[in-house]
Amino acid sequence: MRPALDGIPAYVPGRAASEGTVSFKLSSNENPYPPLPGVLETAVATAGSFNRYPDMTCSALLTELAERLRVPVAHLATGTGSVGVAQQLLQATAGPGDEVVYAWRSFEAYPIITQISGATSVRVPLTAGETHDLDAMADAITERTRLVFVCNPNNPTGTAVPRAALERFLDRVPSGVLVVLDEAYREFVRDPSVPDGIDLYRDRPNVCVLRTFSKAYGLAGLRVGFAVAHEPVAAALRKTAVPFGVSQIAQDAAIASLRSEAALLERVDTLVAERERVESALAAQGWTVPASQANFVWLRLGEATVDFAAACEAAGVTVRPFAGEGARVTVAEPAANDLLLRVAAEFRRDRLVAG
Ligand SMILES: Cc1ncc(COP(=O)(O)O)c(C=O)c1O
Repeated sequence: MRPALDGIPAYVPGRAASEGTVSFKLSSNENPYPPLPGVLETAVATAGSFNRYPDMTCSALLTELAERLRVPVAHLATGTGSVGVAQQLLQATAGPGDEVVYAWRSFEAYPIITQISGATSVRVPLTAGETHDLDAMADAITERTRLVFVCNPNNPTGTAVPRAALERFLDRVPSGVLVVLDEAYREFVRDPSVPDGIDLYRDRPNVCVLRTFSKAYGLAGLRVGFAVAHEPVAAALRKTAVPFGVSQIAQDAAIASLRSEAALLERVDTLVAERERVESALAAQGWTVPASQANFVWLRLGEATVDFAAACEAAGVTVRPFAGEGARVTVAEPAANDLLLRVAAEFRRDRLVAG
């Protein structure tokens, strides 16, 4: 095996909801709602042909996306989830001796896929406010840097960087370094100062935007994400794609989701309203919660993190703990959020305040 694989941390999937007691899975930032009827029917109809390979170029999906996003089809590339596309970007740009810059803590796949490529991770700590330190990230770029991830909003803290700061940062990045704006949670953003990466990519050939159908669109299990990028980035993504990686069921369900967008985005609005309710309730309990623009909230619990996750699980909700740092909690249906709020209040009273 290549030595680059030694010591790669395993990707930790969100813990499943436990069986028996009331149980909600708030550990993977999934959409809690089942597929919309039209989307499900489309997927089921397509399933009848899964003896055939899918359309390798995802042409119908790309055409639909190109129209909606007002980008050329040639600037679009799909993959097996946006994490699949991110891995292709690394395959295309970085190898041994190269550096990949990203904030930390951020999406836990970044160190894994960077290490697989053979490149070296350069992690730039988040600010005290749990957000990207874009000045420090620009300072961290060297002649070895090939790619920079900016996760906006950031997983797991939910914070998002505003347009002015991001543009200032992009102006500092050398044109030969690819900046990947990972916008997996874009549809949950409500702060108008947070830019749409697709506006930024248009006149910046070194900017690539990642989007996914896994979160707002509720297709996490079907594995389809995409990039919006200029040539030669989009062309490189077509070269590095796993042939037939995106199933026909995923392609057709993604198209059906786009066509059911109004109903889907109504659900997103409900989740955003729940996010605001959860944040306010946590603040009222005394927690300091960074303002989230995503479908999750971040509790910096430090050494109490693992115990908090255990208390949640005992009460019937699974969250995503990062030992010694904090817990990321997905905002889901009201009953799940209520249960989480109850555990958080009790934990705070019994463990953090009472000591
Ligand atoms: C920031 C970020 N990017 C990308 C992904 C990957 O999503 P998918 O591969 O399902 O599109 C996730 C999933 O949790 C994420 O949090």
